Amino acid sequence: MSKVAVVTGASRGIGREICKELADKGHHAVAVARSEQPLNKLANSYPNISAIPTDLTNQKDVDKLVTQLERDYDTVDILINNAGTLINKTFEELTLDDWRSQLESNLISAIHITNKMLSLFSNDAHIVNISSMGGFQGSAKFPGLAAYSVSKGALSILTECLSVELSDKNIKANALCLGAVQTEMLENAFPGMEAPVSAKGMGNYITDFAIKGSAFYNGKILPVSLEDPD
Ligand SMILES: NC(=O)c1ccc[n+]([C@@H]2O[C@H](COP(=O)([O-])OP(=O)(O)OC[C@H]3O[C@@H](n4cnc5c(N)ncnc54)[C@H](OP(=O)(O)O)[C@@H]3O)[C@@H](O)[C@H]2O)c1
Repeated sequence: MSKVAVVTGASRGIGREICKELADKGHHAVAVARSEQPLNKLANSYPNISAIPTDLTNQKDVDKLVTQLERDYDTVDILINNAGTLINKTFEELTLDDWRSQLESNLISAIHITNKMLSLFSNDAHIVNISSMGGFQGSAKFPGLAAYSVSKGALSILTECLSVELSDKNIKANALCLGAVQTEMLENAFPGMEAPVSAKGMGNYITDFAIKGSAFYNGKILPVSLEDPD
């Protein structure tokens, strides 16, 4: 059965590949990000992808997005909270504004859109939060990633809380903690680093998980990494 999925962070990288894979599988993807041009290009290439340009850190923008979703769709089956940013600075260099910015774009924005969409979710909907191995308990930690890793760790714990609080609505929530994936984010944070996984490969995996995973997992924080988390 064809599903309606909202994918944040869809203007490039993993999010764009998730949208393409959903569309190729016959589902409808709503692509969300700030950059209008790449979003519209994506939507123009696929009849079953629509674009809603949104800054997820702007409350009014998110309200507008949800109003449009309510107008265009009866229900939404999948929400993939994939949008994110990464500030690479040591703890000593990080300012309070850096901390606020990381928490705003990687945690609060996911909280806000999920909260606003609650009445839109279908029975048995699946919320997939895209976290990171940096935010996985017991994983190797790297200098420069404190604010990013903390924001992702919090997103993972939010997932556990959602799975309990939304169980009466039969909504499932899971977090995927990704290892390194070859995208602009990785290149900007770690120039020259070669990841073992492509954006397309990870996008395909996340799409399959979003469609099928809610039958097998709920409230789980799952590492998706070729490296040993210890
Ligand atoms: N790549 C990796 O190695 C890796 C590893 C672990 C976890 N992850 C996670 O995987 C997710 C996707 O990462 P990626 O590597 O594909 O990153 P990316 O290429 O930098 O893409 C990030 C996406 O998030 C969107 N975004 C950022 N801030 C936003 C905002 N305020 N409102 C709306 N959209 C926003 C960006 O679009 P605009 O700029 O157009 O808004 C872009 O589409 C992120 O959550 C990241 O933390 C990635």
